[in-house]
Amino acid sequence: MKITVVGTGYVGLVSGTCFAETGIDVTCVDIDKKKVDMLLNGEVPIYEPGLDALLARNLEKGRITFTTSLAKGIKDSDAVFIAVGTPPDEDGSADLKYVLGVAREIGRHMEDYKVIITKSTVPVGTSFKVKAAVQEELAKRKVDIPFDVASNPEFLKEGSAIDDFLKPDRIVVGVESERAEKTLKRLYKPFLMNGHPLLFMDIFSSEMTKYAANSMLATKISFMNDIANLCELVGANVDLVRKGIGSDARIGNKFIYPGTGYGGSCFPKDVQALVRTADEYGHSLDVLKAVESVNYRQKSKLVEKIKAHFGENLKGKQFGIWGLAFKPKTDDMREAPSLVIIEQLLAMGAQVRVYDPVAMEEAKHTLKDTVVYAKDEYDACIEVDAMLLVTEWSEFRMPNFRILDKLMNNKLIFDGRNVYDPEEMKDLEYTYYSIGRETVNGPKSEKKQRVVA
Ligand code: UDX
Repeated sequence: MKITVVGTGYVGLVSGTCFAETGIDVTCVDIDKKKVDMLLNGEVPIYEPGLDALLARNLEKGRITFTTSLAKGIKDSDAVFIAVGTPPDEDGSADLKYVLGVAREIGRHMEDYKVIITKSTVPVGTSFKVKAAVQEELAKRKVDIPFDVASNPEFLKEGSAIDDFLKPDRIVVGVESERAEKTLKRLYKPFLMNGHPLLFMDIFSSEMTKYAANSMLATKISFMNDIANLCELVGANVDLVRKGIGSDARIGNKFIYPGTGYGGSCFPKDVQALVRTADEYGHSLDVLKAVESVNYRQKSKLVEKIKAHFGENLKGKQFGIWGLAFKPKTDDMREAPSLVIIEQLLAMGAQVRVYDPVAMEEAKHTLKDTVVYAKDEYDACIEVDAMLLVTEWSEFRMPNFRILDKLMNNKLIFDGRNVYDPEEMKDLEYTYYSIGRETVNGPKSEKKQRVVA
């Protein structure tokens, strides 16, 4: 069996490499010649644990190759996956120009039957636009080559994408013919060893599933952030509330950690796109609209606490930021809460030192020379008035507080991820702000204020 994956971004490259791992022939196509050359040399342009080794092994075995030529890439292949980007339009809807451009090119070059599968996250109905684009090109060529379209959304998490692909919770495939179903069944059989299902459905439902899944997860996070904010006001501890509700199997204990708001390439974009789709159909997705606005507000949460502590003018103050990526184990800075936090601190006149274990280079594209890039987490705290923990990298979990004491001007931490134990912070005599929990050694605790009032 031979397959083609068009687009060697995050999704395409992980999918292509994992398919090759099962022993089939994979050709990955990308218009970026520099990227193709790098990949042919086994150099991975993104940070994803385990991907380098997996790619190197499959290149060596000759099971995966890369080309800029789609015509060559799709020759003799049974299935073509479209995994190119769908950046948001100015109005928030997904821009389909790359997906449909690839569909047209497939139509211009295909010589025999293929299943054309959309893997990019696309609005409901896109697979049929792909079908129309291919048909148009075939008609121009005056040829009648059979093909099927299918939808196969990905559920990969950055940082654990290889594992997610090789051992998926479920695989969702939307098809409209038995022939396409048979091809995809064969292709995905090796990934079903853990007993999790391969779910076939109609194409509309498959496309909808991806948006519904991400929107549901974003909803859990915004809900929890909103509850955490209320916990602070009433004097409850969100850690305990989280455990209390998470042990109900209907709610579940995952994805209910409050923080500085969700970021990344998927949640913000997908929530926005689904709201747009619904609006187009004259239906207002009110829950998701609230999810978006809560998330927007949450990104300013730490800065609000800083303002309450220091006042609005931060001239002459310096802050150390631990973590820049939108979450640990990735260098992805897209929609990262750190960017909003840093922008707000700079606007109030503060100076900022930053450190992230892997996202420093990525961060430089946006932050340029507006901040000081520290060489490690301690360096980021030299003479700072407070440290802000923004991304919960494991290596930030057990710092040497004795060293920090000496480096920082104040023993003051704003923790956006509830990484430290408030009791320990109390013993170490730190003033410690976190999310949805009482401030430790604060100027005046919120709880006392409430009782007095
Ligand atoms: C997500 C989906 O999980 C994945 O299925 C889809 O294919 C792509 O989008 P990803 O963007 O890699 O994956 O990140 P994920 O690990 O899901 O985290 C998303 C955001 O939610 C992060 O900013 C994270 O910090 C935040 N989050 C997550 C919380 O704030 N609290 C939680 O409890 C969980």
